[in-house]
Amino acid sequence: MNVTSIQQDLLEHATAFIRQCYGELGKSAQDISLRLHEVEAEIMQQDHYKHTPEELAHGAKMAWRNSNRCIGRLFWDNLSVIDARHAGTTDEMAEAIWQHISSATNGGKIRPFITVFPASTGFPAHPPRIWNHQLIRYAGYESDDGTTVGDPASVSFTRLCQELGWQGADTPHDILPLVLSIGNSEKKWYNIPKELTLEVPLSHPDIPAFEELGLRWYAVPFVSDMLLEIGGIHYTAAPFNGWYMGTEIGARNLADKDRYNMLPDVARLMGLDTSSNASLWKDKALVELNVAVLHSYKAHGVTIVDHHTAAQQFMRFERNERESRREVTGRWSWLVPPLSPATTHIFHQHYEDHIVSPQFFYQNKS
Ligand code: ARG
Repeated sequence: MNVTSIQQDLLEHATAFIRQCYGELGKSAQDISLRLHEVEAEIMQQDHYKHTPEELAHGAKMAWRNSNRCIGRLFWDNLSVIDARHAGTTDEMAEAIWQHISSATNGGKIRPFITVFPASTGFPAHPPRIWNHQLIRYAGYESDDGTTVGDPASVSFTRLCQELGWQGADTPHDILPLVLSIGNSEKKWYNIPKELTLEVPLSHPDIPAFEELGLRWYAVPFVSDMLLEIGGIHYTAAPFNGWYMGTEIGARNLADKDRYNMLPDVARLMGLDTSSNASLWKDKALVELNVAVLHSYKAHGVTIVDHHTAAQQFMRFERNERESRREVTGRWSWLVPPLSPATTHIFHQHYEDHIVSPQFFYQNKS
């Protein structure tokens, strides 16, 4: 039989995956060889093979474990997988996504979930896509004078939503609609049911006036635009969530100049001297903003982790992996927290940024 290079390539990826996955799951050599024969036959017939639910679940966990930018990987084995490979319409995708948001949010006691939609591999390919960067995120509206209301990171996606017919309320915290497509079909948008979007208004434990800033953030980060690759199969729609580390919100989303840029306002509220860099007003404001984030999530019963605890958890992950004789790959510039980096062990360490399969990848944004 003639083996095409596509088949050859897929077979190699599939074989490596099945061997490692089944090894980790403690399966027998006979189980492995039976499954490899099955997969090979399927690939020769259809240029594709279908993961069993068990392979999908463990493959997704492995992809999290291999995510070099993630400091939260200690919990990789606690990922729950929603198998939505039957979803054939954007309506069915939206249904599965509401389920995901609700189960993961869990009233604030956040649980890590991933929903896996049909794979793009095989022919004809109709890759499903979620065009949002995160399932829940705030809109950003740029006005003519160059200022932005809302999240500047969302400006171009917000424009797309408006072109599709969505209308925002022009507040700094409008939740964007979900935008989905399958294959070359039109993009369809869906308002996210209001009762699904848990948010946290921010206050500070000892600065009462902090509340007046009117800051808030959503409870759960659901990254929704990455491609999940398992054993050579590409899942183009596989939204996943963990819970927030406080600095993502307090030291980046609300602090970055090209995001909500709140440090000057926080400094003013604290009565700091913003005329001199050397007063360290930015650093002082940054710390209190981060105190407010951690305090508020905790007060509202929403899971969050501070960067010191997260770094300790990452150290445990590194130890576990060493004990399992697996190399820990990582990207230092992402793992190191943006606040007080040198107080964590990560700052003082070196990581190899190797790409290991299964893996999450960026994909084209339009
Ligand atoms: N950094 C992104 C944000 O601030 C979220 C990325 C995923 N974060 C996570 N804790 N799982 O929205």
